[in-house]
Amino acid sequence: MHESTTNHAQLVLFGAMGDLTWRLIGPALYNLYCDKQLPARFSVIGIDRDIDAERLRQRWHDGVSRFSRQGAPDDAAWQDFARLLDAHAMDLTDTAGYSQLKSLLDTGNDKPDAQVFYLAVPPRLFGAVADGLASADLHRERNRSRIVVEKPLGDCLEAFQAIDSTLRAHFEEKQIYRMDHFLGKETVQNILAMRFANPIFEPIWNRRYIDHIAVTVAEDIGVGHRAGYYEHAGALRDMVQNHLLQLMCLVAMEPPVAYDADDIRDKKLDVLRACRPIPPDQVEAFAVRGQYAGGWNRGQAVPGYRDEENIAPHSNVETYAAVKLLVDNWRWQNVPFYLRTGKRMAQAVSEISIRFRDIPHNAFPATTGLNSQPVRLVIQIQPQEGIILKFMAKEPGSPLRLRPVDMRFSYANTFNKASPGAYETLLRDVLAGDATLFMRSDQVEAAWNLLMPVLDAWTDNPAPDFPNYPAGTWGPEAAERLVARDGRAWLTPSQVITQDQSQTGKHD
Ligand code: BG6
Repeated sequence: MHESTTNHAQLVLFGAMGDLTWRLIGPALYNLYCDKQLPARFSVIGIDRDIDAERLRQRWHDGVSRFSRQGAPDDAAWQDFARLLDAHAMDLTDTAGYSQLKSLLDTGNDKPDAQVFYLAVPPRLFGAVADGLASADLHRERNRSRIVVEKPLGDCLEAFQAIDSTLRAHFEEKQIYRMDHFLGKETVQNILAMRFANPIFEPIWNRRYIDHIAVTVAEDIGVGHRAGYYEHAGALRDMVQNHLLQLMCLVAMEPPVAYDADDIRDKKLDVLRACRPIPPDQVEAFAVRGQYAGGWNRGQAVPGYRDEENIAPHSNVETYAAVKLLVDNWRWQNVPFYLRTGKRMAQAVSEISIRFRDIPHNAFPATTGLNSQPVRLVIQIQPQEGIILKFMAKEPGSPLRLRPVDMRFSYANTFNKASPGAYETLLRDVLAGDATLFMRSDQVEAAWNLLMPVLDAWTDNPAPDFPNYPAGTWGPEAAERLVARDGRAWLTPSQVITQDQSQTGKHD
């Protein structure tokens, strides 16, 4: 995010013909190119087992046409961009290939400021690539050479530690960029701006004024074509261990001393360290899992998870997870954080709701309707992007009536430019050498550590009631009970349009 001093960068992309590259990395690089956000001298070497420059360019052209936020590429711009792309075929498990790669990358004395090795390959290959790069001495230039990896970083604490130690055997921590694409979203980055660039939130951002915080990341899509991955992951590993815990850290962290990668990451780590461990024998009091049955999505009948392509007919994998966490520190003592995420939920909506405490004394007559809605601040992550303060106001006229109203900030109405996609921001940051929005090893480890009791309990005890929520709903009933036990209810996301509202055009 800082101003880049990188003028010359080389991106070595492993898995250049793969799905991640096709859908996200290629289109993001093309958008950065069009927005003149790439270093003045930039080139990509796409690596895959079966690849040549022509095929690489065709595949990326197709990816850009389908997925770029700028739509199908303009011919001239595409031709210019395509010149930056080259390819090299190699078997990633064959060490000899890495010395050939080294000679290919050798630019004599004209060395790039940044040489980035992006591993858009399955994690089982991370070790082979890291070893291969090291065998060819491509890791040595500590200030120049960087390695990028993306989740799944293991499927449990131990597996993460094993993957991480292979990376750290060759690369220093400052060279390793662990990506969590949620951190690249504009609305997520704005959480720190909102909290720490304004004096008004900090004084009330604590247990005295806040009752609880709810983080919802609801998707309306199903598992799609990702059965192979998802059957070994499930919602807790796929979303909570990374994206939702990161959102929670940004909301709960202490103010940083400086906008500096390590300071910010230290403060986020403190939140995870302060989370009360979930007792292995009380997992049901802190976590709920669900799996979708057949139901409805946007007016179409959709199958249940177990009937999706390549899913085991008795799969025990959760497609919904909700967790209650308590942060044991001065600021948050006894303020629950409720996190929930699921596939095939009623609506695609991600937001963080900060629910303030009720007023200490109601001076208004009961007939005014006070407390029909508590005051809350809603950080809208997607699809709507903005912040809403929901508070009580007097309705015009008499008799005296109070009603919840909204004060809204919307990105779309305020800024006259499209937000860059998360991958654009993160790729730009890697090239610039800014690790602020990337995960440090100790953070990932702390996140696994926190959730291991839940994962272990869920693995050891298959869910007796799966499937337990119909597609197109807000998840299993047990999730309602999780918060109801504390005398609370899930806050309806602000972006939810009910049937009545959609008919009247009114949007709460
Ligand atoms: C990914 C998960 O990390 O995030 C997917 O693996 C999920 O299962 C996706 O669909 C959601 O990301 P976004 O940016 O589409 O909200």
